[in-house]
Amino acid sequence: MSTQKSCQRAVERKSLSALYSHALPASRSGPLYGAFPYPTKISPEAIALFIATHTKPGDTVFDGFAGSGTTGLAALLCERPTKELRAEAEKLGLNVEWGARNAVLYELGVLGAFVGRTLTNPPDPPAFQNAAEMLLAACEEEDNWMYEARDPEGNTGTIRYVIWSDLLRCSSCGAKVSLYDACVSREPALIGSRFTCPECKHECPLDEAERITTRKRDPVTGKSVRQRARVIARLYGKTGRKAWSRAAVPGDEKLLNRIAVQPLPDAVPDVEIPWGDLYRRGYHQGITHVHHFYTRRNLTIFARMWDKANAYDAPLRDALRFWLLSYNASHATIMTRVVAKRGQKDLVLTSAQPGVLYISGLPVEKNLFDGLRRKLKTITSAFSVIHGRKGKVEIHQKSSCAVALPDESIDYVFTDPPFGANIPYAEISFLNEAWLGRYTERDDEIIVSGAQNKSVATYRQLLTDALTEARRILKTNGKATLVFHSASAEVWNALQSAYSNAGFGVERAGVLDKTQGSFKQVTTAGAVRGDPLLLLGKHSVAESEHTACVWAIAQGLMQEALALEPSEQTAQRLYSRLVGHFLAHGRQVPLDADDFYRWHDMQQRGKVSKVAGA
Ligand SMILES: C[S@@+](CC[C@H](N)C(=O)[O-])C[C@H]1O[C@@H](n2cnc3c(N)ncnc32)[C@H](O)[C@@H]1O
Repeated sequence: MSTQKSCQRAVERKSLSALYSHALPASRSGPLYGAFPYPTKISPEAIALFIATHTKPGDTVFDGFAGSGTTGLAALLCERPTKELRAEAEKLGLNVEWGARNAVLYELGVLGAFVGRTLTNPPDPPAFQNAAEMLLAACEEEDNWMYEARDPEGNTGTIRYVIWSDLLRCSSCGAKVSLYDACVSREPALIGSRFTCPECKHECPLDEAERITTRKRDPVTGKSVRQRARVIARLYGKTGRKAWSRAAVPGDEKLLNRIAVQPLPDAVPDVEIPWGDLYRRGYHQGITHVHHFYTRRNLTIFARMWDKANAYDAPLRDALRFWLLSYNASHATIMTRVVAKRGQKDLVLTSAQPGVLYISGLPVEKNLFDGLRRKLKTITSAFSVIHGRKGKVEIHQKSSCAVALPDESIDYVFTDPPFGANIPYAEISFLNEAWLGRYTERDDEIIVSGAQNKSVATYRQLLTDALTEARRILKTNGKATLVFHSASAEVWNALQSAYSNAGFGVERAGVLDKTQGSFKQVTTAGAVRGDPLLLLGKHSVAESEHTACVWAIAQGLMQEALALEPSEQTAQRLYSRLVGHFLAHGRQVPLDADDFYRWHDMQQRGKVSKVAGA
């Protein structure tokens, strides 16, 4: 090998070490990240560092689990990297040649593919901003009366948001009591888990208090439906620049009655929910259709905006729909919440809990005009970052278990497959897909799901099919970076056998540090902090099996060492034993100490989080 070539190899190795040996920060901020909420998405800037290191300008990247299209955004970012992206690459010492890359993305979900397509191929940002502002102004002029409310001084103000409350019955005196009155206190803010009857002072755990339901005629289906009874608990408004809050007054009820006789717009979806893993008998009581996730006020306003967006031609129409949907499930529905934070005088407003379809006993109704106005700024900035870039991003709304690309046509793969049973994407996306009028076909969805009758074995098989396709289309020396996250050894093992059976072997391991954990990562029992990253190379299936054997042997040695002194259980000692094992069997030592230490570290973290979650 010439000196020049070997120098080049050394630079590449150093660059890869820099990328995989530090926990790489993946921030959760910036317009591209903030434009659309999609579960478990990764920052495009972080992915761009991987693409830039593993590929050259003009190369093509593949992601078979594209979600909201972040890998496509990352490929486009390589063309004209922001100052921050350049600085990060320099800080890490990455060997990078900036320039346009192309991407081919497969995503099963209708919503994910729609989001990815709109973001990677946005319309002219000023034209979009203008259309959105006109739409907002027209709707506000017609419908802002629905958010009018008297302030505590009797002046007309505007609702910022309303906290609703479930109604409960006191088992002692039979009084109808709102959950808010029974469990919430302010200054300092607290949501208690015990019910205290304001009438007779009877106390019991909240779970034991009966939730009152009412039967009413559903204005969309025309059928009778029994649902949880709710009342306004507290209303937050503004008059001019002054913010205020107060308890409900009779005028609030009058306004609701006026809204209730408004005709429902054509756009309101009359769609039954195909409930799956996320259905809960308690808080989903009586929620059978998409419109049950909305208050009548927000359903009417959202649908009128949707109708107006439909009057535009593509691509502006899709960009306007993107803007509306970016706010829809997380903020426009009654999944929006308030939480009590330590040291706060009042409850703090937040969005829907990600990754579930949870409706709290204190659902919140937000002012859609205020929220959409804020969102418009973020989305216009995101469109401006991407608009006019030359790289080509193709998004196929299809299963990656069968990819229509020739063998060895892709330079690099970056992907994060669904994490076992963590998130049923199609079920979560349904609320947004109902507005688009198209739904994800779930047969090929690669998840572990009781409702879909998919075991870990089914998950492993589907994942093997998808990774086999990824390997087939990857060039001989091409690499795949796979981000994964699971607290379950069974799911990790399914992943490991999927990539080994597909003919991939692990060349390096690292960690992607999403600086703020997503809700599920922080709260799921046994959750792992940071997403492990694997750099996979194309091995022959036999080689991959061999690599799999290495880990099995290492596991065995670790197990044996548990019966010995602590000094025998250190990573260093275990590595020595592993080396001894291979030499004793007349085999070559298959992995470096560093790789073993990283694997050992991952095992230890898995154990610690298991104990923590036990
Ligand atoms: C972890 S998410 C990817 C998130 C993505 N990286 C992002 O930034 O938005 C996994 C995605 O795989 C998709 N998926 C599940 N099964 C699939 C299949 N057979 N083919 C293609 N996509 C699939 C899910 O719909 C989900 O969007």
